[in-house]
Formats: sequence, structure tokens, C-alpha cells
Amino acid sequence: MPCFSCITVAYLLCVASSKSHAEKVPRGEDRQNIMFGLNANVIEIDMRFEGLTQLPNASLLNPRTKVLLLAANNISSTTSELRTLASLEVLNVSRNRLRSLRFLPEPCSLRVLDASENVIADLTGPLQTCTELELLNLTRNEVSSLDGELLARTASLKSLYLSYNKLRSVSRDAFATLSQLEDLYLNGNELRELPDGLFRGLHALKRLWMNGNRLSALPLLDACCAHLKWALFNNNAIATPSAAALRALMASDAGVNVGLYNNPIRPAALRWVLAARDVERVVDEANCACGRLRRASATVYICVATACGVGADVDDWVVAVREAAAAV
Ligand SMILES: *[C@@H]1O[C@H](CO)[C@@H](O)[C@H](O)[C@H]1NC(C)=O
Ligand SMILES: *[C@@H]1O[C@H](CO)[C@@H](O)[C@H](O)[C@H]1NC(C)=O
Ligand SMILES: *[C@@H]1O[C@H](CO)[C@@H](O)[C@H](O)[C@H]1NC(C)=O
Ligand SMILES: *[C@@H]1O[C@H](CO)[C@@H](O)[C@H](O)[C@H]1NC(C)=O
Repeated sequence: MPCFSCITVAYLLCVASSKSHAEKVPRGEDRQNIMFGLNANVIEIDMRFEGLTQLPNASLLNPRTKVLLLAANNISSTTSELRTLASLEVLNVSRNRLRSLRFLPEPCSLRVLDASENVIADLTGPLQTCTELELLNLTRNEVSSLDGELLARTASLKSLYLSYNKLRSVSRDAFATLSQLEDLYLNGNELRELPDGLFRGLHALKRLWMNGNRLSALPLLDACCAHLKWALFNNNAIATPSAAALRALMASDAGVNVGLYNNPIRPAALRWVLAARDVERVVDEANCACGRLRRASATVYICVATACGVGADVDDWVVAVREAAAAV
């Protein structure tokens, strides 16, 4: 595989050139010695794919360790905690069997935490003190609620991944301090409703993924989100998106794309849009009952049914959009 070799060579060159300040742990006979801090220069430790069943004993690691890669093991036991690794900036425990994050360093200097693909339901503990955190990946875990305290001090967060959890409730203040957040992934959860004002502090938000929940209403995104590029609400249960919510979304000048595919939208709920003079409507014949509504640089993608020709509502929608388009 020539490409793979290229990448490997580039990688080795990169490692060699950065050797003066950081050495990687080799995968050889000496790795136990080096791993356990006998070489004080080792600040990046790679123990992925090792079949570990518990966290390494932090008191045997270099206390200056900055990067600890523990992905793709079988770690369920957290008896030996990582609490003493106060310099740790990157921790990857993706694809293990962890139930909580109570083992995190304290004080916490983490910038990147990838704890995706575990069975984490409990987020209490040092996570709340990780004030430098920029990326938090909790994709595919078992988180069922977010309270107002959890992320109150992680104001540096840029990316928050909570896709494919069991989220049923999110506190109104859950994201209140995240003024730098650009990516918020909440798709694939069990959310039925969102508290008013949930997104109010998210002034830097660019991508909001809410698809694959059970929402019955489109949230009002008015007090935030001037930079929004993507707002996906596909595969929910939204029947009557409120005019105020749609108007607020379409008022964005950032060129927002709003996905409303596969919602049981009633054409009547869109009558105000169809009547608005500054909204361009396009019926997308290739996508059957899908339509696009465009206003300035904003585009809303709407489908009223999952499959072609299903339900009378589809025809109503197509007819309504066609008539409105013809009337302009
Ligand atoms: C993971 O560890 C458990 C015991 O904690 C063991 O039963 C299981 O076989 C291990 N799985 C793998 C893939 O090693
Ligand atoms: C970690 O290592 C220290 C020092 O050798 C030892 O005292 C302690 O019992 C170890 N902890 C665990 C959980 O193995
Ligand atoms: C964590 O490790 C996994 C497996 O090596 C990798 O796919 C993933 O991209 C890593 N996460 C981050 C944030 O680098
Ligand atoms: C987050 O985790 C998911 C699932 O492991 C993975 O597909 C994705 O690439 C990760 N993203 C980042 C930025 O770490």
C-alpha cells in the first residue's frame, strides 16, 4: 500500500524532527521501562490496541505526560486513577468500556478529551474543572441528561460531540457559557423538547446537528447563532415549525442551510413562507416532495415525507409550493 508507506515515512520524519522535546514510546521490548517514566523525556504515551483492562498506574508514568493514547483497549476498571497527571493535555480513551469520567486529572489541563464509544452514563467529577478543554467527544455513550453545572466552567469548548447517547433532558443552562462553541452535535438522541433559551449563549456556533431526535417543535434560534452554517433537524417529529423560528433561521446572513427532511410537516404551517415575497421556492422534483426555500443567503431544505408519493400531504405541499412559485 504505497499511500500508507508515504504516511508512515512522513510520520517518522515528523517524530524524528520533534525528538528534542518529545519522544514517542516505541512498540518494542523496552517499552515497559520507557512507559513507566524511566525516560523523563517521554511526554507522549501511545498504548492503543494493547488489550488493557484497566487504566495504567499514574504513579508509574512520567508526571509531565502531555499526551496519553489509550483508545481501543478493553478498559473498564478505573481503580488506578490518572488524577496526578496534571500536565495532561490530550487524553484519548475512545473505544473502551468506561462507565464514568471520575478518573480524570485534577487539577485538569486537558485540551482534548476523546471518550467516545464507551458506556459512560455518569459525567460527574473532574470534567467540570477542565477549563482549557476545546474538544470533548462523547459520541456513542449512555448519557441521558445534561445539567446546568457540568459545562459551566469549560468556556473554551469549541467542539462538543454528544451524538448517539440517550439524552432525554438538557437543562436550560447546559450551554450557557459556551461562547466559543462552533460545533454542537446532539443527533441520534431521544430529545422531545428543548428548553427555551437553550442556545442563547452560543455566539460562535457554526454547526448544530439535532437530526434523529423526537423534537416536535423547531427551536427559536434568535438570540444566538449569527455565524450558523448548518442547522440539521432532519428525522424529527416537527409538524408545525413556528413562523418565528423559521424566520429567525432564515434571517441569518451567514448562508445557513437548514435541514427539515423527514418531518411530518403540514403544508398549512408553511403558508406564511409561501406568501412571503422575498422567499424563493424551488420544488426539487428529483427528491419528490422536497423543496427548498431561499431568502437572501439562507436555504431551508424541507421534505414532507420520507418516500416518494406517500400521503396526501405531499401533494398538497408540492401544489402549494408550485402555486406560490408561479404567483411570484
Ligand atoms: C474484556 O474484558 C472482559 C473482562 O473484564 C473479558 O470478559 C472480555 O473478554 C474482554 N474482551 C476483549 C475483547 O478482550
Ligand atoms: C501504583 O503504583 C504504586 C507505586 O508502585 C503502588 O504503591 C500502588 O499500589 C499502585 N496502584 C495500583 C492501583 O496498582
Ligand atoms: C482517538 O483515537 C482513535 C483511535 O486511534 C482515533 O480514531 C481518534 O481520531 C482519536 N481521537 C482524537 C480526538 O484524536
Ligand atoms: C468522535 O468520536 C466518533 C466515534 O468514535 C468518531 O467517529 C469521530 O471521528 C470523533 N471525532 C473527533 C473530532 O474526535
